[in-house]
Amino acid sequence: MKSDSQQSEIKSSIREWWNDPSKDYDGFVGHGVNSEIEKELWGNEISQLLGHKQDLRVLDIGTGTGFLALLLARMGYGVTAVDWSMTMMQKAKEKAEAAQMPIRFEVQDAEKLTFPDMRPLMQL
Ligand SMILES: C[S@@+](CC[C@H](N)C(=O)[O-])C[C@H]1O[C@@H](n2cnc3c(N)ncnc32)[C@H](O)[C@@H]1O
Repeated sequence: MKSDSQQSEIKSSIREWWNDPSKDYDGFVGHGVNSEIEKELWGNEISQLLGHKQDLRVLDIGTGTGFLALLLARMGYGVTAVDWSMTMMQKAKEKAEAAQMPIRFEVQDAEKLTFPDMRPLMQL
């Protein structure tokens, strides 16, 4: 069993790993939505899961470079995206700005989310 300080050290190094700006996460094989057919398949899955309630607000925890947040926003859902890595989130923000998608981004630790009321948010 690890002590609290050991766990916190491990957590810090994981966060550092995600903050490494040399990573090209969007270039990873199999990551993201790279074709129209993938977009359609994701869209179908999301519609089945969430229905067509476009007034629904969705919280994307660990959004990374935001592929799911962007997909959801394009489908008309209200999206809040959180990640603890500024590096990853900066890329997501740039993509959202370029696509003019009104996504709310917040740097937060998924284990200590500070939203006052989580109930209206569907977590994916
Ligand atoms: C494998 S990536 C997935 C990114 C995105 N959801 C996707 O599918 O492309 C994991 C992401 O979760 C974030 N993450 C990991 N642990 C986290 C935590 N405790 N709080 C917030 N974000 C976290 C990382 O910074 C990273 O951006």
